[in-house]
Amino acid sequence: MRDTNHRAGFATRAIHHGYDPLDHGGSLVPPVHMTSTFVFDRAETGGAIFAGEAPGHVYSRISNPTLDLLEQRMASLEGTEAGVATGSGIGAITSALWTLVEPGDEVIVDLTLYGCTFSFLHHGLERFGVTVTHCDLTRPELLSAAMSDRTKVVYFETPANPNMRLIDIEAVAKIAKAHGALTMVDNTYATPYLTRPIEFGADLVVHSATKYLGGHGDLVGGLVVGSQELMDRIRLYGLKDMTGAVMAPMTAMLIMRGLKTLELRMDRHCQSAARVADILDAHPAVAKTLYPGLPGFDQRALAEKQMDQPGGMIALELHGGIDAGKALINALSMIHCAVSLGDAETLIQHPASMTHSPYTPEERARHGISDGLVRLSVGLEAADDIIADLVQSLDQLATPMMEAAE
Ligand SMILES: Cc1ncc(COP(=O)(O)O)c(C=O)c1O
Repeated sequence: MRDTNHRAGFATRAIHHGYDPLDHGGSLVPPVHMTSTFVFDRAETGGAIFAGEAPGHVYSRISNPTLDLLEQRMASLEGTEAGVATGSGIGAITSALWTLVEPGDEVIVDLTLYGCTFSFLHHGLERFGVTVTHCDLTRPELLSAAMSDRTKVVYFETPANPNMRLIDIEAVAKIAKAHGALTMVDNTYATPYLTRPIEFGADLVVHSATKYLGGHGDLVGGLVVGSQELMDRIRLYGLKDMTGAVMAPMTAMLIMRGLKTLELRMDRHCQSAARVADILDAHPAVAKTLYPGLPGFDQRALAEKQMDQPGGMIALELHGGIDAGKALINALSMIHCAVSLGDAETLIQHPASMTHSPYTPEERARHGISDGLVRLSVGLEAADDIIADLVQSLDQLATPMMEAAE
């Protein structure tokens, strides 16, 4: 088995890590193990594998060689020991958290989270006696005061979906560790190509692989990575017994195909998003553009500290609020209105009525998700075409505004 961990560049590991074709009949591309169960040569072997005394696979709800390879590659890319692949990003988050907390424990989370993560925490975990406390983690000094002996996990997204808040991973992880809690980071927006939270002290990283890792809008999947010890617990408890949120082998193969071009795609997403953000920022119809690469971005220094590039996601607010946002979306011709992100296609959506609708309007107001916010995932089309479509739509909004001002 080829072990390129930490010795080769990012793209090399994304393409080769953990696989030697000569161990598989010369097959350049890893075989897909489309099997639910695995045969033992003798009853004793099966017993030993079940008991954890011998290596081997038992049943694909627990492990599968195709998923194994994906898990090793992602662990390598994130700079950690091991991973667990899951059927969705929410499957990764729930499999991990169900493993790490018990009734009476507390999870401290940032104010802004993806809608279904918020929903799981408040409508799922809390029903089973776990306290979920929101803390403004953009101000890590508030975390020390919020921590208690019951706090087992500190959880956040950076950049956060949808409002692009950044959290200082190093500062938060230091405080969490000092209080004996684990730091868990949703790295979906940045991907390991831009940010590796483990390098800054995080214990676990979760992903919606549905997004940039898969990269083509044709699958739903998730991953959690961290130490071998944590991953063994999540696999054998959270995934096996609590959620059963297993990834299909074909999905693992598609994600590995996506990983091969992750670096190329992310470079392009970042280049195009930077151009789009500049244009949006200067447009008279746009009130606010939130993009970590803009000189006026509030958390620019933090972006430079922990992101290798500013990413492909942009949030914007228009003069004219949500009505203007809907008009912008409806007048686009190439760009599609759809949730999800990180695909080849540029996608635009309205979080308050779509991805973040699990929050009540009051919760959205408290959690910094304004009703006027529009979220843009800049795709891989020619940047000139993305810009032309946005500008023609924005110009239609700006013209009446400018006429009214005259
Ligand atoms: C930041 C973030 N985390 C987690 C998820 C959940 O992932 P999935 O849809 O793959 O379950 C999403 C989905 O949009 C997301 O944007």
